[in-house]
Amino acid sequence: MSYSTLLTTLENGIFTITINRPDKLNALNKDVFTDLDNAADEIQNNPAIQSAIITGAGSKAFVAGADITEFAGLSKAEAMALSKKGQVIFFKIENSSKPIIAAVNGFALGGGCELAMACHFRIASDNAKFGQPEVNLGLIPGYGGTQRLTQLIGKGRAIELLISGNMIDATVALQYGLVNYVVPADELLNKAITILSFINTKAPIAIAGAIQAANAVYDETKDGYATEINVFGECFATEDMKEGTNAFLEKRKANFKGK
Ligand code: COA
Repeated sequence: MSYSTLLTTLENGIFTITINRPDKLNALNKDVFTDLDNAADEIQNNPAIQSAIITGAGSKAFVAGADITEFAGLSKAEAMALSKKGQVIFFKIENSSKPIIAAVNGFALGGGCELAMACHFRIASDNAKFGQPEVNLGLIPGYGGTQRLTQLIGKGRAIELLISGNMIDATVALQYGLVNYVVPADELLNKAITILSFINTKAPIAIAGAIQAANAVYDETKDGYATEINVFGECFATEDMKEGTNAFLEKRKANFKGK
């Protein structure tokens, strides 16, 4: 599939998505949203894709937010529709059955921080900066940021960031648990690829189930413990579970097929 605002590559099962508007610090305009929506579908539907990385073009920004130029003149109803649309696309990323990680290579502000938080986890370069500066525009985050920031770093820290608009650097983001690793900028993509290459050797149905069960914690329409029971049972009905347990007993490496 081709995209007007994304560069994509697929190597060894890892689909790398680079948001490519570096002159606008990769701000999320309508076209980027449409492309991200389609890319999330491609991840789900292309059997050659095992996992994905989302990053930003250039050395300055992951994504510096929603494209503020598209906010001018929006009515209340239009703003609500935009928020809903962003949330639906970010839910699609969050609920992907294949791991999607953010490689945050600079500013992750507003919608950029929200996009990174919708990914399953985050790796940051040492020059990364995170924040929800919407309050400076008289706004709040609209693409799930108030919810996911609170889930990830706790209510007190989240509310401080939401109402001050302050940015935090990569070291503080690591301390807050917003990112899993901080690495030098020139090692960021390699680190993401190394992590996903390892994950890609695991059983795909178990990976999908683990993501589904962990996401159920934050979904009030679901009982997370019941989800865990179902997924645990479903895993026992897979060939991969037999392969994994046999491989352990035979002291060899498992060869998972996703069946
Ligand atoms: N929407 C639209 N355009 C944006 C943007 C955004 N969220 N963030 C950056 N840009 C554009 C700038 O307007 C500028 O375009 P121009 O060269 O045509 O004037 C270009 O990207 C470079 O940004 P600039 O502000 O010149 O870079 P900087 O290094 O001085 O500052 C930031 C970097 C990230 C601090 C600053 O761009 C910023 O505050 N951006 C907005 C962040 C924000 O509020 N995001 C939440 C939106 S809801």
